[in-house]
Amino acid sequence: MSTTLFNLQHDHIAHLQRAYSDILTDHGFDSLAIYSGHASEHFADDHTPPFQAYGHFMHWVGLADVQHSWLIIQPGERPQLYLYAPADFWHLPTQLPDEPWVEAFDVHLSSNTIDSNETGSDKISLPLSGNAAVIGDIERLPTCTLQPLKAERHPERLVHALDELRLFKTPYEVACLREANRLAIAGHQASQAAFIGAAGELDIQLAYLAASRQRESNVPYQNIIGLNEHAGVLHYQHYDLQPPKQRYSLLVDAGRRFRGYCADITRTYAGPDAPVAFGELVTAMQALKKELVSSVAPGVSFVTLHEQMHQQLGEILVANDLFKGTAEQAVAEGVTRAFCPHGLGHSLGLQVHDVAGLRHPDGTPAPAPEQHPALRLTRTLRPGMVVTIEPGLYFINMLLAPLRNTDLPINWQLVDQLAPCGGIRIEDNVAVTESGFTNLTP
Ligand code: GLY
Ligand code: MN
Ligand code: MN
Repeated sequence: MSTTLFNLQHDHIAHLQRAYSDILTDHGFDSLAIYSGHASEHFADDHTPPFQAYGHFMHWVGLADVQHSWLIIQPGERPQLYLYAPADFWHLPTQLPDEPWVEAFDVHLSSNTIDSNETGSDKISLPLSGNAAVIGDIERLPTCTLQPLKAERHPERLVHALDELRLFKTPYEVACLREANRLAIAGHQASQAAFIGAAGELDIQLAYLAASRQRESNVPYQNIIGLNEHAGVLHYQHYDLQPPKQRYSLLVDAGRRFRGYCADITRTYAGPDAPVAFGELVTAMQALKKELVSSVAPGVSFVTLHEQMHQQLGEILVANDLFKGTAEQAVAEGVTRAFCPHGLGHSLGLQVHDVAGLRHPDGTPAPAPEQHPALRLTRTLRPGMVVTIEPGLYFINMLLAPLRNTDLPINWQLVDQLAPCGGIRIEDNVAVTESGFTNLTP
């Protein structure tokens, strides 16, 4: 890892120490315990699903797979990391990397969890002092574990303030998101090559994982690899084993974690059997994505940018002969919403759908507009935010069918011709800077 990244991480941890001190003091707390979380076993089994640590825990240590561990933060004190690292011949015990950031923490290794029934010197007791708070997925810990902590659980205003802190990325975090993007793009290039080679969904997924250098349990979200009409299923969750006979389209929405931080990138390709009109629509959506990305700047309302997407989707529907009225009519009559039911994008960070997108800076709710309930970000953009820009256009029968009984001038013949292509989404990851934006997706 480069010295530059380690220096940035050093500054990032120093920033967290200052910010947490201020936030804890403002909210009247003397100490805070952050639980990493742990995976629960499948019912009646001894295996667990893949695990992802709590975002506020990762914010400090950047380790997405650490379980049963705690951070204690106290204003003016060094952070205390209680790392669960049992002596275990079934698994490789957790080890911290040999990296400079570890020196910023007092590290306590324990072979017992806090909820362990074991007694003895190795049992963790967390040194919470004064007015204390505890956050994280603590509901699944036994009640008896938390009682001795004498801490307020999940103080809402405190958690909102910490979420707000996460919304604004430090230069270290932006560097991690950029590297996650670089790795993910290698996967996307391999996916495209596999599609050209007539691979099916599973083989495209395997090509993606190999080229982006990750195992499936480490992906930040389940990769969406949709051929043909599957490209129109927004969160399509399967991988067909066999390639289809006709190859109209491929949509790949796939990411990568780097030191906890997530890439979330989508690309759509027209296949050899697609109507010419589909290829033209893909080109139009790529241009729309580019234009929306270049509109990202401090002071821009994300809701306004989302509305701009709808206006331009209306123009694309008209220009590509899918709608024989005006762009304004397509927006006003809800036609663009039937073709694109999701939001323009969301905040991105340690979670793919990162925190604080639907709150005002003071933590009060800032819900999505009634007409756009799926929008996950209603904030005014500020430097340090990282967002996705992901315009889409789909042929989803469930949404389009009700419009068939209206006299809206939709070109149903063309819709039916394009339906086997499923849909299009193009998604980049964009950092808001002081003067505008940086596109992190190469
Ligand atoms: N990959 C999920 C999303 O784009 O929001
Ligand atoms: Mn995505
Ligand atoms: Mn996204």
